[in-house]
Amino acid sequence: MNKIIYLDAAASYQKDETVIEAEVDFLRNHYANSGRGICSRAAWVDDMLNFMRRRVASFMNTNAENIIFTHGTTDSINQIVRMLNLTDESVVAVSDLDHHSTRLPFVMSGAGIVVCPLDNNYDIDFNKIPYADVVVITAMSNVLGAVQNVAEIIRCAREKNPNVIAVVDAAQFVVHEKIDVAEWGADFVCWSAHKIGADTGLGIMYMKNPSRFAPVQFGGGMVNKIVADEIIFNNVPDVFEAGTLPLTQIAGLGAAIDKLEENRPNLDLLKYMYDELKEMSRVRILTARDAALLSFVIDGMHVLDFGAMVGVRGVCVRVGNMCASWIHKLMGIDASIRISVGSYNTKEQVQQVIKYIKDIVK
Ligand code: ALA
Repeated sequence: MNKIIYLDAAASYQKDETVIEAEVDFLRNHYANSGRGICSRAAWVDDMLNFMRRRVASFMNTNAENIIFTHGTTDSINQIVRMLNLTDESVVAVSDLDHHSTRLPFVMSGAGIVVCPLDNNYDIDFNKIPYADVVVITAMSNVLGAVQNVAEIIRCAREKNPNVIAVVDAAQFVVHEKIDVAEWGADFVCWSAHKIGADTGLGIMYMKNPSRFAPVQFGGGMVNKIVADEIIFNNVPDVFEAGTLPLTQIAGLGAAIDKLEENRPNLDLLKYMYDELKEMSRVRILTARDAALLSFVIDGMHVLDFGAMVGVRGVCVRVGNMCASWIHKLMGIDASIRISVGSYNTKEQVQQVIKYIKDIVK
């Protein structure tokens, strides 16, 4: 990386050389489409796709036929909402930890929305989960960075309604903790590849019971044959993957998972920064010391001014509402400053940024 100090992994993770090399190798030496050919290149791509699907499955403790490739968490959740055929009589439980992408597709479906209360630490209070047909769980907020007790939330939701469909947004969680879909018992789990250092435009959607649902996107690659008026669809998972997949991104995915498993982001860097920022009287920290993110506001300074001032010094952080308006509203603020780290960040970088912040927030 050049002189930039990039502390915005939570928005999108920097790419390891192994990921870039895997993508370049695919583009340069193996490029073809998948599921459509019998030539040697097409066979190579099919093998690569099958390998990556199995790799993702073992990463999440499930089987390859439960893994669907999409274009991102937003795409996955929009597809899920359409698969569920919600009506204005359906009840969907959400929480104020949600990203706009997690909640808005459900809101726009016209279903009734109820909000799961948060406790005093802004964690989902699993003792107070309301009755719902669908429970939507943000496994880790992109503002607060705290791990939610997904298994317990789902267990409590099922006590109220044994048939509740549990949808988990793991887009931030996946970077920091192992996803074990068997332990969670969720019906759907979604994350985006770029959050772990693979590429943009690729999402992973786990479906516990894919054969219970019908596809909502139609096109090439998901149809076996059409005879007269009869359309015979392909089997799971292909039936959920209409159109050409983001194959270059998929080619880099295995390297990103390998890298993440070998080296997760060092959260001690954030603890170090937390201890330093805590001493600054104008800084109000919003996150816990052991959180996976460090969010804060500065008395008397707009977050955009802060972003610009560290920006001219070559530091990239995220400022704004983080596409998570509800948690900001609950905390009585409009926006915040967020620092997040990848495995590529160093203590020296963090020390340099603390010096800049001291200079800015005198
Ligand atoms: N959801 C991403 C973030 O939190 C974009 O920055």
